[in-house]
This record gives sequence, structure tokens and C-alpha cells, in this order.
Amino acid sequence: MSTIEARADGTRVVSTIAELRGLVAAERRGGASVAFVPTMGALHDGHLALVARARELADLVIVSIFVNPLQFGPGEDLDRYPRTLDADVAALAPLGVEFVFAPSTGEMYPDGPSSTRVVAGEVGGLYEGASRPGHFDGMLTVVAKLLHIVAPDVVVFGQKDAQQVFLVRRMVHDLDLPLEVEVVPTVREPDGLALSSRNRFLGAAERSTALVLSEALAAAADAASDGVDEALAEAVAAFGDHDGAELDYFVIVDPGTFLPVAADASGPALALVAARVGATRLIDNRPIELG
Ligand code: PAF
Repeated sequence: MSTIEARADGTRVVSTIAELRGLVAAERRGGASVAFVPTMGALHDGHLALVARARELADLVIVSIFVNPLQFGPGEDLDRYPRTLDADVAALAPLGVEFVFAPSTGEMYPDGPSSTRVVAGEVGGLYEGASRPGHFDGMLTVVAKLLHIVAPDVVVFGQKDAQQVFLVRRMVHDLDLPLEVEVVPTVREPDGLALSSRNRFLGAAERSTALVLSEALAAAADAASDGVDEALAEAVAAFGDHDGAELDYFVIVDPGTFLPVAADASGPALALVAARVGATRLIDNRPIELG
């Protein structure tokens, strides 16, 4: 029995791997190219920018919506992660998405959490990986599975998750996956807050406190011509102005290696920040130019 759900707007919601593979194969036989946007749902304008870019890049656009338990640690927000499939599908329809792949956990992991994992390596244990052990192994494992299921020509990610983008690019390179990785700039609110599915957890006061992330990045960018130490000091000082935000890390990395830059580094670099605002953990990043 087919589990494909056809919506009035033409988007088809597919929940099994076999059916999605069959549909994509049929489109491929007709010569269609495929762009893929993996998501965990709770879609916002940042996701929609990825989908709009995907629409420009290929004939067929597939969006997956799957909250991947493998990338959540014990005590993280797996249970409270928003699940809003109907609203997500409605948001995707005007963008002309052909297929939404929304598998159950049992469909993706029929034998329980997979014992085979993609290992993210050294960079996978830094920054987000240090605060969330196993997160990037779980993320890469599901992305590898999804890429094998969808077999796209291009996969689209957001720069907001810069470390994720770095690790996916490296996996694609290391495992010789035959596809392009396209990265779309972070979408921000007018006041600078990076869009995130987790922003919906912020109360009014927390929403205002959360601006500290983009303010700290701006402070680092302004001080970057004076060097690494100055940039870091200004960023940390920005947190001093905000009660209620707990800095997890602020680091300046070499975009080519994702390792921290040396104290005397100069040229293009990437500043990364993570902080807890109330019960909500937020991340952001920004390119900077070190003097
Ligand atoms: O960025 C996300 O939403 C997730 O990490 C991803 C890439 C969909 C894998 O679960």
C-alpha cells in the first residue's frame, strides 16, 4: 500500500525509503536533475531560503523533514524539538517543492539506532562537538543515509550551522560522494538575530538577550584588524552587558581547517559563538578579517 500523500498544492509527502527511491528514479529516467534540502522541520525563512536556492539549481526539489534522534544527546531537547509537519508542508508548497520526505524513526532506524556510524573526527569533537558529544557523528550518519536515499546532484545547507557545513563538505570529499554541496548565507531578523527553529522557545526578554550572539560577533569583527586577542576580548566583553546569557564558547577558526587560528593570524577567518539563553542553546557565526 502506498504511503504517498498528495497535497492539493502538488507537493507529495513520502514516508518510505522505497517509495521515495522509486519516485526519484522515475524522474531521473525523464532526465531531471535533483536538489535536496535536509531539515528537521519547524521550518522558518532560513530554511525557505535554502529551498529557494535548491529550486534555482535543479529540476526536482526534495526536502526531508526528520528529527534525527542520533544527533541528540541525553538531556538535550529531542523531546521538545518542535514537530510541525502540516505547517512545514504548507510553507514549502509555494516554493514548488515536488517531494517532502518525512520518514518515521522506525523507517530510518528499523533496528534501533544504527550501530554503523560516520565518525566526524577531530573537528567533530570541537566547539559544538565538545558541548554535544556524539552530535556530529549522529548528524553525519543521518546525512549520509539521506544522501544515499535521495542521491541528489546537489545538497543545500545553511551557513548558520558552519561546523556542520564544514563536516558535511569533508565527508562528501572523503567518501567521494558524487554531488555538490551548496551553502546559503544565514538569514537574520532585522535586528541581527540569526533565524533558528529554537528561537520559538525564547520568551520576550530572552529574545532580546539573544541578540548578544550577533552583537559579540559584530564586536569581534570590528576589533579583528587589531588581532585575534583583541577580537576575542571584545566578543567576551559583549557578553558582560547581558545578564541571562551564558557563553559556551567564542572561537576564531581558520575556515580551511576549522581549527582555532594562531594568536598572530591574519586574513580571512570565521568567528563562532554558542550561548545558552534561558533553557535554549543558540549558535551563530560570522566571517571576519584579521589584521
Ligand atoms: O541542520 C539540520 O537541521 C540537521 O542537522 C540535518 C542536516 C537535517 C541532519 O539531521
